[in-house]
Amino acid sequence: MDKGIVKLAPSILSADFTRLGQQVADAERAGADRIHIDVMDGHFVPNLSMGAPIVQSLRRVTRLPLEIHLMISDPDFFLDEFVEAGSDSFLVHWEGNANLHRTVQRIKALGKRAGVVINPATPAAVLEEILPDVEQVLVMTVNPGFGHQHFLPTTLPKIRRVRQMIDQMKSGCDVEVDGGIDADTASLAVAAGANILVAGTAIFGQSEGVTAAMTRLRAAIKPSNELTSTGLARCFERRYLCSLE
Ligand code: DX5
Ligand code: ZN
Repeated sequence: MDKGIVKLAPSILSADFTRLGQQVADAERAGADRIHIDVMDGHFVPNLSMGAPIVQSLRRVTRLPLEIHLMISDPDFFLDEFVEAGSDSFLVHWEGNANLHRTVQRIKALGKRAGVVINPATPAAVLEEILPDVEQVLVMTVNPGFGHQHFLPTTLPKIRRVRQMIDQMKSGCDVEVDGGIDADTASLAVAAGANILVAGTAIFGQSEGVTAAMTRLRAAIKPSNELTSTGLARCFERRYLCSLE
């Protein structure tokens, strides 16, 4: 893995579903590295989103890898269906999965990339035994279930810890972050050690359009030595203002 290269994974949760194909094509043209698809079942998280038919449709309009973030109670039950639809990788939560190792092995047996996800309240330490088996860790920077939430700055030390654990193992495991990533928070996550950024609202929810939004987001990712405290200050300020509403 080249740590200098930060990958962008637009999350279609915030896309305009009346023209989903066009929006994904725009993201691909603007340099997206993969497409992030959030699957929710109303049990694991208090929201419903999309299933394998969306993956099947998108498979016809993009060559980008399709990564499936499974926020569902029984991930094993749906894996075959998503693989058949054209998925390339799966992100499964540590929370609520009593047999995570088995799920990860099943994903690999299906010939796909496996990643493990941890929620904001879950410590990095739970990853220790599963790390050698996965190709990616997704650190949730909001509580899962909804787009358009504020980045939780308290997750930054955990991103750093996960990166340290991976570096110590000398593995090429990717560190991805998901939730509230925008022009202010992207650099903070990258400085902490993330090399893949999921972004929904910051890419699909902007009036300037997908291409301009992606260009702006990429330009905002500064190398860590150029990072100032401005991003962190803005991030805390927004959360504070929000708590007053
Ligand atoms: C939240 C999802 C995210 C969501 C991110 O549960 O996992 O992928 O789409 O949306 P933004 O970028 O708007 O926070
Ligand atoms: Zn997600």
